Amino acid sequence: MKKILFVSSEAHPLIKTGGLADVSGSLPKALHELSQSIHLLLPKYQDLKITEPLRHRCMIRIDNREIHILETRLPDVHVPVWLVDYPPFFDLPGNPYSDAQGHPWEDNLERFTLFCKVATEIAMDRAHLEWKADVVHCNDWQSGLVPALLNLEKNRPASVFTIHNLAYQGLYPAEKFPTLNLPKQLWKPECLEFFGMLSMIKGGLVHADHITTVSPSYALEIQTSEFGYGLEGLLHHKQESLSGIINGIDTKVWDPKTDEHLVQNYNFNTIKEKNANKIALQEQLSLPINKDIPVFGLISRLVEQKGIDLVLECLPEMLTLSVQFILLGSGSPDFEQRLHNLALLHPNKLSVTIGYNESLAHLIEAGVDIFLMPSRFEPCGLNQLYSQRYGTIPIVRKTGGLIDTIEDALPETLANNTATGVAFHDASAGSLMEAIKRAMILFYNKATWKKLQANCMSKDFSWEKSAKEYLSLYAKLLD
Ligand code: ADP
Ligand code: GLC
Repeated sequence: MKKILFVSSEAHPLIKTGGLADVSGSLPKALHELSQSIHLLLPKYQDLKITEPLRHRCMIRIDNREIHILETRLPDVHVPVWLVDYPPFFDLPGNPYSDAQGHPWEDNLERFTLFCKVATEIAMDRAHLEWKADVVHCNDWQSGLVPALLNLEKNRPASVFTIHNLAYQGLYPAEKFPTLNLPKQLWKPECLEFFGMLSMIKGGLVHADHITTVSPSYALEIQTSEFGYGLEGLLHHKQESLSGIINGIDTKVWDPKTDEHLVQNYNFNTIKEKNANKIALQEQLSLPINKDIPVFGLISRLVEQKGIDLVLECLPEMLTLSVQFILLGSGSPDFEQRLHNLALLHPNKLSVTIGYNESLAHLIEAGVDIFLMPSRFEPCGLNQLYSQRYGTIPIVRKTGGLIDTIEDALPETLANNTATGVAFHDASAGSLMEAIKRAMILFYNKATWKKLQANCMSKDFSWEKSAKEYLSLYAKLLD
């Protein structure tokens, strides 16, 4: 049994802004089920949804600050969660990274530097918890300093750093470094320095014993200038200790047979009942009730990464066809406004819900026929996995994890029952529109559509295989 400290800035269902939370809530569970001693470490944010008992474990002092470590559990499972309680940094309304108006907290660098220092103290068993980690598994820039700090220690645990999205690096002005009370030897170009900036993610990329990312294709893409954001050279240099492990999903949370957010549960044998969710969705969103029309769905952060500009370019033509489109998301005010305006023009065809709504997200996955993910880049992507499990056929752009999880419907893949979606190559509105039309042709061919749904719904998306890959990686590092 290995002692694993899993360090993350968000974890479902405690707090979530995106896929990182889904992974940090479900991978530790899978590792726990494989009999590992895993502890999840999170900041104690004000908006954490804690449902299990909470108790005080210890107090430590770092940089003359008094920090308390509290302990709770993930709901329904015995995965202990340690919470870093430092109210001036974390007891604030809003999400982990920004205030209620969406402005990033001004002291994010200081907040997550402290979080990394606490993680290091816990990992080294200096926090009075009587638990020393064998492996510290860090995720994204918010925990990037941990491998760097651990590297300065003797008898340290092994470290793994997982890149969920290289576009977010935690870049801050170089002048901040001396204010952080970090060891001076970390300030050099081979470490945290990055073209005159302080880069949190570089701490993880340079110092972790192994880097993973969330799909094999993205692991290759980030070694190129197109996807590497200037870090491609470093990543290529570290290719021997860089690999892609595809994300799994929480198959209990995302299961059409038991999902409490649906109006009607179903499985492949009762797939006709999926339509009840379609009708409920149309009713709830004031669209004309019509079970025969192809309904498209999209749930996303509304940012450039997700190809929202391509969708906006396609929508005018798309809405001349006999379709409905249901979108849920929030993000760039410009995208929000343009989508909202289009919805006002096409109330019978386009429904746009701006905001974050978990329950509606589940109903959309079940109620729509076709799910759009035209991402410009996508480290893994989770919604195309949820869609397949719900018998909703995804349209994806061929990038990152979308390449690794969707088989394009072609004569050959349809014949050998591996087709699971429609995939297109160019990041252009023309290519997306072509894919949309191709999906509609498939939709109207009922036998083919059912076959696609069967292929999707019979796939295994559980964490089992990938969690075992993480375990063998930990074992290799400890050898
Ligand atoms: P990313 O992490 O890049 O945002 P993923 O596809 O990995 O993309 O994961 C996104 C997760 O966030 C999914 O669980 C998705 O359902 C959820 N999500 C995104 N936007 C919303 C929203 N507006 N309301 C509810 N859930 C959302
Ligand atoms: C990131 C990526 C997304 C991935 C998620 C979980 O937010 O953008 O592709 O699925 O992390 O790993």
